[in-house]
Amino acid sequence: MPHDAAWLKDATVRVQSTALGPTTEHRGRVEEIADGVAMISGLPHVRLDELLRFDAGQFGYAQVLEPDRIGCVLLDAAHALQAGDAVRGTGDVVRVPVGPGLLGRIVDPLGRPLDGKGPVVAQATLPIEREAPGIIDRDLVTEPVQTGVLVVDTLFALGRGQRELIVGDPATGKTTLAIDTIIAQKDSDMICIYVAVGQKTSAVRRAVDALETHGAFDRCIVLVAGPATPPGLQWIAPFAGMTMAEHFRDNGQHALIVIDDLSKHAATHREIALLTRQSPGREAYPGDVFYVHARLLERAAKLSVVGGGGSLTALPIAQTEAGNLSAYIPTNLISITDGQIVLAATLFQEGQKPAVDVGVSVSRVGGKTQAHALRDAAKSLRLDYAQFLEMEVFTRFGGTIEPRVQAQLTRGARLRTVLRQNQHAPMRLVDEVALVMAVQEGLLDGLTPEQVGTFRDHLGGALDTGAADARYKVETTGTLGEADKAALLSVLRNLVTSLEAPDV
Ligand SMILES: Nc1ncnc2c1ncn2[C@@H]1O[C@H](COP(=O)(O)OP(=O)(O)O)[C@@H](O)[C@H]1O
Ligand SMILES: [Mg+2]
Repeated sequence: MPHDAAWLKDATVRVQSTALGPTTEHRGRVEEIADGVAMISGLPHVRLDELLRFDAGQFGYAQVLEPDRIGCVLLDAAHALQAGDAVRGTGDVVRVPVGPGLLGRIVDPLGRPLDGKGPVVAQATLPIEREAPGIIDRDLVTEPVQTGVLVVDTLFALGRGQRELIVGDPATGKTTLAIDTIIAQKDSDMICIYVAVGQKTSAVRRAVDALETHGAFDRCIVLVAGPATPPGLQWIAPFAGMTMAEHFRDNGQHALIVIDDLSKHAATHREIALLTRQSPGREAYPGDVFYVHARLLERAAKLSVVGGGGSLTALPIAQTEAGNLSAYIPTNLISITDGQIVLAATLFQEGQKPAVDVGVSVSRVGGKTQAHALRDAAKSLRLDYAQFLEMEVFTRFGGTIEPRVQAQLTRGARLRTVLRQNQHAPMRLVDEVALVMAVQEGLLDGLTPEQVGTFRDHLGGALDTGAADARYKVETTGTLGEADKAALLSVLRNLVTSLEAPDV
C-alpha cells in the first residue's frame, strides 16, 4: 500500500499521542494449588470477586481475601497450573452474555456454547453478582404462573415473582415437576432458564429431550455445570443463570428460573470453603451458606410499573435424605423461599405421582393470584383432602363404616386419583377447573379408577366442543359466570353418563 502524506501525518499523530513509558502492574504468585482452588500471594489490591488471569491463560476469581493471600476459585481445569505460576488481577468481575440470542441454547456457566450450534450472540455481558431489587422497585405478586400440574395449581398456586422450593428425596420427581412447569409455558409469555448444577449428564439429557419433544425448548436457556466441571464453574452457575434471567425481567418480560439443585451447590460451596480453609460450621458448611442462597434468591422479584413490570419467578430445588426436611440446607432454603412443594418417596412408591405431600407443602404468596374460576372450584379441596387422609388411616383398622363416612372416603379416593398426573402432560386452566368441579360435585363417585382415567382423556375434547364459550372465558379472564358453570357441568354430566353406559 502506498504511504501518502496524509497517512504519514495520521500515523505520526497516533504515535505521538500514545503514552509510552513504564506501566506498573501487580503480579501475584501461586502458592498452593488444590482441587479447583489456588492460594495466591502478592496481589494486595485485588478485590472480592475480581477476575484473575493466570499467565498460562486460565481464569479464576477471588473468593476469599486474607491479609497476605487470596483464595482464588478456578474457572478452568487446574492440571496445567503449579505453584510458582504468575497471576494478575483483571480489574473486572465474572460476566456472562445476556439477551435473546441465548434462547434455545445449551451453555456453560460462562455462556460458552455446549450444543455445537456456533457462537452465542450476546446483547451485552453483565456481572454474575448483581444487587437484588429493593422494596421500592418491587410490586406485589399478583399474576399467576400456570404450571399445568393440577395438584400445584389447585392447592399450591404460584405467582409471578414468587420463589417456591421443590424439595424431596432422590428420584421423587423434583426435576420432572420443574420441567413440566417449563413445558406448560410453551404458549405463554414466560421465558425459562433451567440451571443444572452437578446433575448427571444423563438426567440433563432427559430434561433437554423432554423440552425439545414438547416444543418448549425455543423459549428456554439451559445452563449446565456438570459434576466433572471445576467447582468454581458449578459455584457460579446459579448466579450466572440469575443474571441471564434478570435481563428479561428488567426489560419488562417474565422469566422463570429453575435451579437444579441447591443442595449440590451448597456441597460445592462447602468444598471450596474447606479448601480455602474457612472455618466449618453446622454439617461442615461454612457460616455464610445461608447468605449465599438468600442473596441469590432475593434476585427473583416482581418489579413495579416504574421498573417495567417484569417478573422473575424462581423454582430452586433441594434434595433431602430419608425425607429429613430439618437438615441444614433444606431448612435454610425453606426459610428463604415463599413456600415449598414437598415430594414424598412413600407416595411416589405407591404410584401417587406427582408425589406432592399435601400436608407439609405450602405456597405463601401465590394463592392470591389463582384464577377466580379455579379458586372457586377448589376452595374446600385442601381441607376435604386432609380430612380424607386422616379418616382413611382410622378406617384402616376395620369395623363398620357409616354411610356418610363411606361417601367421604369414596370422594377422597376419587380426588386422589384425579391428582395423579403423567409427566410432561400439562393441563389447561379450563381442564383443571372442570376436573375439580367434577370431583367436588360428586360426578366421579360412581366411576371406577379406569373410568376416571378415560374421563380425563376425553375431558379436553368434550369441553372444546360442548363448552367453547366457557373455555374462552376462563382462558381470557380466569372467571366463570353462573351460565358458564352450568354449561361446564352439563358437559361433565354428559361425559360421565356416556362412560357409565357406553354405546355397544
Ligand atoms: N408424574 C410422573 N409420572 C410418571 N413418571 C414420573 C412422574 N414424575 C417423575 N417420574 C419419573 O420418576 C423418575 C424420577 O424423576 P426425577 O424427576 O428425575 O426425580 P428427581 O429429580 O427427584 O431425582 C423419572 O424416571 C421420571 O420420569
Ligand atoms: Mg433431579
